[in-house]
Amino acid sequence: WCYNEEVAFLRSKILALLREAGDSYLSGEEMAKRLGVSRTAVWKHIQELRRDGYDIVSHSRSGYSLQSAPDTLRPEEIKNGLHTKRIGTEIRFYPTIDSTNLEAKRLAQQGAPDGLVVVAEEQGKGRGRLERSFFSPAGKGIWFSVILRPDFLPQDAPKCTLLSAVAVAKAAEDFGMKVGIKWPNDVLAGGKKLVGILTEMSAEMERIHYVIIGTGINVNIKAEEFPEELRDKAASFSEIKGEKIPRAAFFRAVLEHMDALYDAILREGFAEVFSEWRRYSITLGQTVRIIDARGGGQGAFVGKAVDIDEDGALLVDTAAGRRRVLAGDVSI
Ligand code: BTN
Repeated sequence: WCYNEEVAFLRSKILALLREAGDSYLSGEEMAKRLGVSRTAVWKHIQELRRDGYDIVSHSRSGYSLQSAPDTLRPEEIKNGLHTKRIGTEIRFYPTIDSTNLEAKRLAQQGAPDGLVVVAEEQGKGRGRLERSFFSPAGKGIWFSVILRPDFLPQDAPKCTLLSAVAVAKAAEDFGMKVGIKWPNDVLAGGKKLVGILTEMSAEMERIHYVIIGTGINVNIKAEEFPEELRDKAASFSEIKGEKIPRAAFFRAVLEHMDALYDAILREGFAEVFSEWRRYSITLGQTVRIIDARGGGQGAFVGKAVDIDEDGALLVDTAAGRRRVLAGDVSI
């Protein structure tokens, strides 16, 4: 079942009117008039909104007033106060889906535009890197994918992963939380992973058809709610903050930072993403152990991580000289 765009449009209009009214009441008749629909239609939508957790009080003479909104990722909540140029101008919401990356791929193949966001409350088949599965329980995280259609070369696409890690780190900072990024894109706090990012691409030799950045943010998951095998590796933002985090507001912050970084990339390349990445990096300056992602070969080696280069590769100084690591597992 896909969220109906037309219903979403009316709902968001009703919510916008109620929000605009602030503490004062707004009559059903007034709303109907302003939206060009019947009073019954307004009433039906109000009932629906209440069922979805909106606390809308009514007063027989003066009308309706919005007291509080539920913790939902529905587009009408996300778009409420979202300021972006490209990312999130179109948002597809699913209460449940196999994987937002898979859905984004399907939509991209049907011509979905640059910046379209797919978000779900729950994923039945959340996908991680290296064919792993990704824990994505209902209502407790932000599981989303962004479709990008940039005009740069396919070899630049992997750097988009850094964009997402930096955007989440900045959003965390906005909410008063400190996180670090472990190369290339693990967002960590206290050594535990808060975010998973999976970037996929469809391209020809010289042209990108689309890039999909899939990001899974553990927002309000309690330690004991993680499956046992993840408990010592994964954490959520609410654990850091010590309280529940409003997902819609957090998501908006992430999308706004992504949008600003993407805009900078399109205008002047990845320099800003790299400098922001360096600011959050917990890898640079450390002695690291690298395990070659391609396996076989020379296997693991140890050195000091000194910087990333213009390809996003990690530069590691070893006893035998400087090595450039494009993909691999890093332990500090
Ligand atoms: C990893 O850490 O291995 C990457 C995990 C990526 C998870 C996100 S959740 C949203 C999007 N949809 C998916 O199926 N995967 C990504």
